[in-house]
Amino acid sequence: MSLRTSTAYVEDVSPGSGVLPPRAWYASSDATSLSLNGSWRFRLSDTADAEDDSFAARGYDAGDWAQVTVPGHWVLQGHGSPAYTNHLYPFPVDPPRVPTENPTGDHLRLFGLPADWPADGAAVLRFDGVESCARVWLNGTELGEFKGSRLPHEFAVGHLLEAGDNVLAVRVHQWSSGSYLEDQDQWWLPGIFRDVTLLHRPAGSVRDFFVHASYDHVSGTGTLRVDSDVAGRVTVADLGIDTATGEPVTVPAEPWTAETPRLYDAVLATPGERVPLRIGFRTVELSDGLIKVNGRPLLFKGVNRHEWHPERGRALDLATMREDVTLMKRHNVNAVRTSHYPPHPAFLDLCDEYGLWVIDECDLETHGFTEQGWRDNPVDDDRWTPALLDRAARTVERDKNHPSVVIWSLGNEAGTGRGLTAMAEWIHGRDGSRLVHYEGDHDCRDTDVYSRMYADHAEVERIGRGLDGGPRRRRALPFILCEYAHAMGNGPGGLLDYQRLFEAHDRLQGGFVWEWIDHGIAHPELGYAYGGDFGEELHDGNFVCDGLLFPDRRPSPGLLEYRKVIEPVAITGDGTAGTVRITNRYDFADLSALSFSWSYEVEGEAVDLGTLPVPALAPGESAEVELPAVPAGAPAGEAHWTVRAVLASDTAWAPQDHVVAWGQLAVSERRVPHVAATARPAHGNGGISLGPGVFDARTGALRAIGEVPVTGLRLDVWRAPTDNDDGAAWQSDLRPGPLWRELGLHRMRHRLDAVEAGEDALTVRTRVAPAARDLGLSTVYRWTSDGDRLRLTVSVTPDGDWTVPLPRLGIRFGLAAADAVRWYGGGPGEAYPDTRSASRIARRQSTVDDLQTPYVRPQENGARIDVRWAELGGLRVEGDPAFFLTARRWTTEHLDAAAHLTDLVPGDTVWVNLDHAHHGIGSQSCGPGPLPRYRLRAEPAEFSFVLSASGTG
Ligand code: GAL
Repeated sequence: MSLRTSTAYVEDVSPGSGVLPPRAWYASSDATSLSLNGSWRFRLSDTADAEDDSFAARGYDAGDWAQVTVPGHWVLQGHGSPAYTNHLYPFPVDPPRVPTENPTGDHLRLFGLPADWPADGAAVLRFDGVESCARVWLNGTELGEFKGSRLPHEFAVGHLLEAGDNVLAVRVHQWSSGSYLEDQDQWWLPGIFRDVTLLHRPAGSVRDFFVHASYDHVSGTGTLRVDSDVAGRVTVADLGIDTATGEPVTVPAEPWTAETPRLYDAVLATPGERVPLRIGFRTVELSDGLIKVNGRPLLFKGVNRHEWHPERGRALDLATMREDVTLMKRHNVNAVRTSHYPPHPAFLDLCDEYGLWVIDECDLETHGFTEQGWRDNPVDDDRWTPALLDRAARTVERDKNHPSVVIWSLGNEAGTGRGLTAMAEWIHGRDGSRLVHYEGDHDCRDTDVYSRMYADHAEVERIGRGLDGGPRRRRALPFILCEYAHAMGNGPGGLLDYQRLFEAHDRLQGGFVWEWIDHGIAHPELGYAYGGDFGEELHDGNFVCDGLLFPDRRPSPGLLEYRKVIEPVAITGDGTAGTVRITNRYDFADLSALSFSWSYEVEGEAVDLGTLPVPALAPGESAEVELPAVPAGAPAGEAHWTVRAVLASDTAWAPQDHVVAWGQLAVSERRVPHVAATARPAHGNGGISLGPGVFDARTGALRAIGEVPVTGLRLDVWRAPTDNDDGAAWQSDLRPGPLWRELGLHRMRHRLDAVEAGEDALTVRTRVAPAARDLGLSTVYRWTSDGDRLRLTVSVTPDGDWTVPLPRLGIRFGLAAADAVRWYGGGPGEAYPDTRSASRIARRQSTVDDLQTPYVRPQENGARIDVRWAELGGLRVEGDPAFFLTARRWTTEHLDAAAHLTDLVPGDTVWVNLDHAHHGIGSQSCGPGPLPRYRLRAEPAEFSFVLSASGTG
């Protein structure tokens, strides 16, 4: 065996040595294979050369080594710790050199061949993903080494296999020259994190093959040609195809689209192997300046997906991948960008099967070079070009047979340079049937799509209208937002406003929300850990938790909002017109897979319901559909029609009756509560009483309503800043969170100016203002009563120079006890001015605990919008106008101070906020703030609540 101890290969820019050329990946065939996943012996060293390679020899005794699970990351299995940086390299930037402190994991696996392992033929050892660099030995013979963490690498090993025990030794280094190419915004997680498989390769078996399956929408035919290195036959039973490899066949066929993912089972048979194939016929083209599939332009309603599991990191099992895909389908997502590397190959099988458009991205990002103005950027340095081409080839060759993959992406945030051009040229040459994407070059020299990230609404509209200028090539290209709507914490706001632009301008072919899931790491004390929780010397905090799913894959309100905004059927109209407008927003499917229902609701409760016959409209078509007559005997009150589109039958991703789209049409307006001011304020018992209210005589503060004690009722303008309020450090100076804090809105003082017990009202005059500032809010509380109920009218008049928006405007108070919450208004989930699409008016109930949204870093959350009335803690509140309701077992100040959910400890009081208004949410954690119409300006305002004892607690 080789006793080479040199670690020069770690810093060598070459992609590797000894590995086989890349080829198509397939999950199964009739050739024998052996999974080498499972428990491996493991030894961790601090440096790349701390140990010699004698462990790779047969007979080495690793009995005292630890064990790790493969696939896995050793830092998530108790050896070392994970580290998170967004774009900063966590080591000195001196390419291609890496630190001496280079955690190195030696892995050992003994295996015997199964009894049925054929005695003849070759064998291949495949690694589907190792971060960041591996050197491999089998039975003491060195096979070679490779880099390219999320790419497959294979070695020919047939000649080395032995009938008895075999020893597979793998040395993995956390850092290598490859790390410079893998500076994606995520945890650094070394390890053998994808499958390791031994594949028997019988004589005459398939090596590489390329399925070309196009669709001609004019003739309704599919053309299939399978090119294979080893000649054979291709059969597609359902289409009566039985043809030689390399021979094209054209037959009538159904097309594949993400909406109608028709796959045909086929077999590629060579003399030595039968490989099952799943063929989808579809043609991707750039025509009329648009991305078209099967002759029709499409609209991406996408997400960026990193691979993530809160315990296993990027080592995902099939069930988790399937959960991602079904969750996407259930939430109307139709596209995935595999940010920022090719996913586990099985994920793409699922995309083919369930139907998702895929932008498949190469494992490439050199973002950290932005710190030095992109000097020394590997993508513009010829020495690195072979490594870049290797990454392109390993991506394209592995994934080229998936109908779901419609666009190749060169990588992410790698600046510009010759290496990228070389990659694009290679990809265009190898696979002319798909388009090439890369966001980092706004001139689009190498790409077929103009792509941007986080452009604000105004710019997107200019691009949509073709008013953005730019080089001629770019002006001729379709536009996508490969990232937008940064889903960090509460938000993103403004999704609907983007979607309206996408729908209004053909050139805008949609976008991909950043991102799918929070990368929180399950932690025994912190709930979910984020950057800095492992003592990293450089980190980017909770910027790694910016997904539409919480780490445990529970949908966040952001995902529910997105689902509503991108729903494939628009259900709109005027509830008094007797009809509802149904618009098919699919790009390919008609509405025959859906059935429709109506319900007529009064004061939030369904009075009657039924089915609604809707024609099977073609994509883009609309119809005005007659609603039934208003149900006879419907009670008086505020009324709505709710019309739903549901799955007519079970699908692979959701059962029959799953709601795909809905619309709510107002029929009549709400009657605003009236309280006659008939009661008189009366002094007595050290207080003032007015109807059911008891007030402090000196301060005018409310003490109780009937039997219900109330504390601390006063104006509140502070909310625990959201990640979007705080904004990212590089954003404009107009980040509201820091401005609010600078102004002191989190420490407002309430000066009492007067308590006036008049004829029919108790009036309390105050001025609410922060220390050290000359601006404030003159606030008057006017209480009246009809004997049973109290009406509070709050009048707010700003004084001073208020250029900063207010976080919120309303009152807060404490209740001694509250658990169940009932309300009539928006829900079921939270909503803010620019995240309110998914909120539907109904009668609702929940509990104080369930009203909380568990953002990994605690922040403002949980407001229910459009609340007409609510009952909690024995109190009933009616709003004039409707209000935002929030209730929690801690104060806003506690929420603001918390870093993790585990910091939130319930107190004795339930704090209730009744808000007249909230500042919008926006997406400024990495993107634009709220649009002007969602800003909460400090302006004179007046709002009222009617408060009474509800009799139930
Ligand atoms: C983008 C980048 C993503 C992620 C995001 C912010 O610039 O492409 O990887 O960092 O910003 O979360």
